Amino acid sequence: MKIRQMIVLILWSAVAMAQVLPKNPLAGREVLEKQGCLNCHAVNGTGGTVAPDFGKQVFIGDEYDLLSKMWNHSEQMLAVMSRTRTERPQFNGTDFRELSNFLYFVRYLGQPGNSSVGKELFVSKNCVECHSVGMPVSGKIPLDSMKVFKSPVKLAQEMWNHAVAMERRRISKKVSLPVFSDNEFADLAEYLRQASSLKTEERIYSYPGDPTRGLKLFKEKGCEYCHVQKNIGPRLDETNTNQSVMKIAGIMWDHSEKMLNAARQMKKPFPLFTDNQMADVISYLYFSSTPKTTGSAEAGARLFKDDGCSNCHFAGNKLKAPTVGQLAVYRDKDEFLAALWNHVSQMEEILVARGKKLPKLLPNDIKSLYLFVNENATGEH
Ligand code: HEC
Ligand code: HEC
Ligand code: HEC
Ligand code: HEC
Repeated sequence: MKIRQMIVLILWSAVAMAQVLPKNPLAGREVLEKQGCLNCHAVNGTGGTVAPDFGKQVFIGDEYDLLSKMWNHSEQMLAVMSRTRTERPQFNGTDFRELSNFLYFVRYLGQPGNSSVGKELFVSKNCVECHSVGMPVSGKIPLDSMKVFKSPVKLAQEMWNHAVAMERRRISKKVSLPVFSDNEFADLAEYLRQASSLKTEERIYSYPGDPTRGLKLFKEKGCEYCHVQKNIGPRLDETNTNQSVMKIAGIMWDHSEKMLNAARQMKKPFPLFTDNQMADVISYLYFSSTPKTTGSAEAGARLFKDDGCSNCHFAGNKLKAPTVGQLAVYRDKDEFLAALWNHVSQMEEILVARGKKLPKLLPNDIKSLYLFVNENATGEH
């Protein structure tokens, strides 16, 4: 992904999601580069190829989730690092938080569209049966005006709003309506923008949506009525919406026909969107499906014993691993998470020498360990 494009997208997120966002989510990108993560991982195709792409292949939730995923893959990561003589990344709390914020958003923002792919889609998805772009064709509905929209979500929104008319035309023309996957909405939007006969040089920003407003709309537009109260649509917390904005737009579109039918049967209005409302609803779907990490100090105490932390961290041990009481209280979870990661390779070496493996840790486990350690730490910094 082009860095400048990324900056624009991310600055917009920062404005719209100030309630959940740090001052500068882009900082995480620098951490990613500085720590050499991009030697192996990519962000939307830019970077290494030996490890999963953060924009496409992995969804990373909160900081506990990031550490859990890194921890549980540390054996493979550390193996590749020693083979390629890459230095092992060491973090401080701030680095870790910035990294986590960046990875969370990069997935949501998705990839920019590709206009030549979009051009093919315009034909293969049958848009061309009913629409024109670039020059007028008699009997076809021009889409040139799509160019002025600032975000590909707008294309999805316009299609959604016209679902009834499209459906009617589909029946009379005997063609099928398109189904979307991957980044196809963004590709189509990019193509329409390039092929449009309109001459405007407006900058194109992607408005990422505001989840708080999205929740309000979710109630007002009847989504909640069908999906939560009446169980007419599936429970959306079981739908994987930890996907990019455009992919979620695609999921909604692909079900629009059935939603329309359900609305007709129930004599309820089909929800329509104005302004940036669809982006708001989509951002709500993304945030609400992010798993919530829970934990407790009691569970942490159990884990500390059962997961073998206490095999090294006992009073008078030869490795000089501090007891929990000797540790100083961590300022925040990020500082703890960074400290835990920084000693993973040392732990692993000792464990491997003893014929043992690093215990797997889930996000909840890590939170519990954090709560336990901080409740019992009495040492000095
Ligand atoms: C030397 C290569 C290398 C470097 C450098 C590296 N990784 Fe990895 N990472 C890997 C490999 C290989 C895997 C996949 C392991 C597997 O498939 O089990 C992985 C997996 C992961 C995963 C889990 C992905 C999943 O599917 O759940 C996360 C998260 C991760 N790395 C984060 C990072 C971060 C953050 C950095 C930089 C601080 C980093 N990695 C640096 C090679 C690397
Ligand atoms: C079966 C015919 C048909 C197909 C196929 C079709 N559309 Fe439409 N589309 C329509 C009709 C009819 C309208 C409503 C026009 C109106 O209300 O003025 C419409 C409206 C739209 C609008 C709103 C236009 C505006 O000016 O507000 C957009 C955007 C759109 N379609 C995009 C697409 C795209 C992209 C595809 C292919 C992925 C597609 N359509 C496929 C028939 C179709
Ligand atoms: C009139 C009832 C109704 C309303 C209103 C409604 N939906 Fe739906 N929705 C459904 C039904 C029924 C399905 C299942 C369609 C299918 O099986 O293909 C569905 C499917 C979906 C899916 C796909 C779920 C999956 O697991 O694949 C999403 C996402 C979705 N709706 C979002 C919304 C949003 C957001 C709104 C509000 C803007 C909304 N729906 C309003 C009835 C409704
Ligand atoms: C194989 C032995 C071993 C195991 C198992 C082990 N540790 Fe450690 N740990 C150490 C050693 C040695 C140090 C001291 C590292 C140093 O001072 O550089 C340490 C340091 C720490 C620190 C302090 C890091 C810092 O610099 O602030 C924490 C927190 C910690 N361990 C937590 C854990 C937890 C939680 C577990 C269980 C999941 C665990 N350790 C399992 C050996 C181990």
